[in-house]
Amino acid sequence: MSQSQTDQSANRVLIFDTTLRDGEQSPGASMTLEEKLQVAELLDEMGVDVIEAGFPIASNGDFESVQEVARVVKNAVVCGLARAGEKDIDRAGEALRDAKQGRIHTFISTSPVHMKHKLQMEPEDVLDAVISSVTRARNWTDNVEWSPEDATRTEHDYLCACVEAAIKAGATTINIPDTVGYSVPEEYGALIAMLKERVPNIDKAVISTHCHNDLGLAVANSLAGVANGARQIECTINGIGERAGNAALEEIVMALKVRGDAMPFDTGIDSEMIARASKLVSSVTAFPVQYNKAIVGQNAFAHESGIHQDGMLKNTQTYEIMTPESVGISKSSLVMGKHSGRHAFRKKLEELGYDLGQNAVEDAFRRFKDLADKKKHVFDDDIVALVDDEMAAGEGVLKVVALKIVCGTEGPQEATLTLDISGEEKTVVATGDGPVDATFNAIGELFPHEAHLQLYQVHAVTEGTDAQAEVSVRLEEDGKTVTGRGAETDTLVASARAYVSALNKLIVKRRKSAPEALQAS
Ligand code: KIV
Ligand code: ZN
Repeated sequence: MSQSQTDQSANRVLIFDTTLRDGEQSPGASMTLEEKLQVAELLDEMGVDVIEAGFPIASNGDFESVQEVARVVKNAVVCGLARAGEKDIDRAGEALRDAKQGRIHTFISTSPVHMKHKLQMEPEDVLDAVISSVTRARNWTDNVEWSPEDATRTEHDYLCACVEAAIKAGATTINIPDTVGYSVPEEYGALIAMLKERVPNIDKAVISTHCHNDLGLAVANSLAGVANGARQIECTINGIGERAGNAALEEIVMALKVRGDAMPFDTGIDSEMIARASKLVSSVTAFPVQYNKAIVGQNAFAHESGIHQDGMLKNTQTYEIMTPESVGISKSSLVMGKHSGRHAFRKKLEELGYDLGQNAVEDAFRRFKDLADKKKHVFDDDIVALVDDEMAAGEGVLKVVALKIVCGTEGPQEATLTLDISGEEKTVVATGDGPVDATFNAIGELFPHEAHLQLYQVHAVTEGTDAQAEVSVRLEEDGKTVTGRGAETDTLVASARAYVSALNKLIVKRRKSAPEALQAS
């Protein structure tokens, strides 16, 4: 076993983040390679023990992401998912070649319904596949995780036999997925206790939880698993994942931190980085965070009613079980105005976790000055939005140069748009059913394409009518989806930028083929 599998106190719980694998499988949550690297580096920095970076056989893009994540991650174990077949396992092994610490996570279904209808295999053949897949994965690495998919609907005797065989073949982590989010805490905890009790070699492996949230019980089930002996939790930032998602990392970490009296377990996570991770994942996937979401929702630390506000003023402990600062939300986020200089701006970028090159800092500083001219107060969130916008615009083929809109009650609305297309400026006037439609039609005339608009979302970065609008646009072409973002005080300019940023990503994606697209739950 590797160090991070063994060298832990009895109460240390490993955090296995699968935002880039199970999370990315949520319809529409796809991320570009650069976005995945950004997320992976942040997860590594915040102390995640294992980062599941993707499913290498699924596509060349997935292979490349796992490979690149493996190259940049410094501390965490980097994991690649594989079905039980030889090709899957070898592809995962190859993708992880450059990892400082790599793990192959292989899985096969063990429940009667999955074996009969999905795999169309007999239980004895599945058991053989468990042994051969783990054995093959061990040829690549001594860090092998095995999962019985749909474990919570698997017969206990058979589950014990499979787990025992997997450990005998060399699995060092045994993950117990509640694939369909069917379990309840008492039952899931009892399942982990049963495995600890009945599988003779169970002490040779770390037991892991992987709970889906179909009944809203993913976090509760994971914690019940830990209370009964599991020492790894699989989870995602903001709880994104298949269907209703996975257990939310931020809820797990803060539940263990705040209620250490009831659950005496530690994680290695720097909880003050949670808000940043939540924002980053929400922004790159364009999945908004529910306002009242525990820990990271906009209202999680807001106190509206008079009675609550009065209590808070007297003593914050009256209505606050943890401080906003403990999850990385700073109370005084008002930053700078138009008189702030380069040095202060660079320092602010560092504080916000950005490590930009000289040119990128200069571009961001210019945008910040423009914004400070238009907007009375510039908040941390404004700076995050404009830097993310600058990064999203990147070095793409297309750039928005100018946009003029005619709109109002007398339609049709009209957009005059100038785009820079590979260094050449082109202008067009287009009409549409509203200014956004007119703008997108203008982009379509200047750069004809077949992509369909799947999502158009506007979000105010801060409060007030002078707030920046952060626009997300999701485009789909031949089954490939990309998300573009744009931020500006002018919502229509932000919309044009978001659309163009999505198109730039699509152009990059077109160059990469996806021979064997598939999904795992
Ligand atoms: O939910 C599930 O069963 C999975 C496995 C691939 C671990 O995601
Ligand atoms: Zn899953």
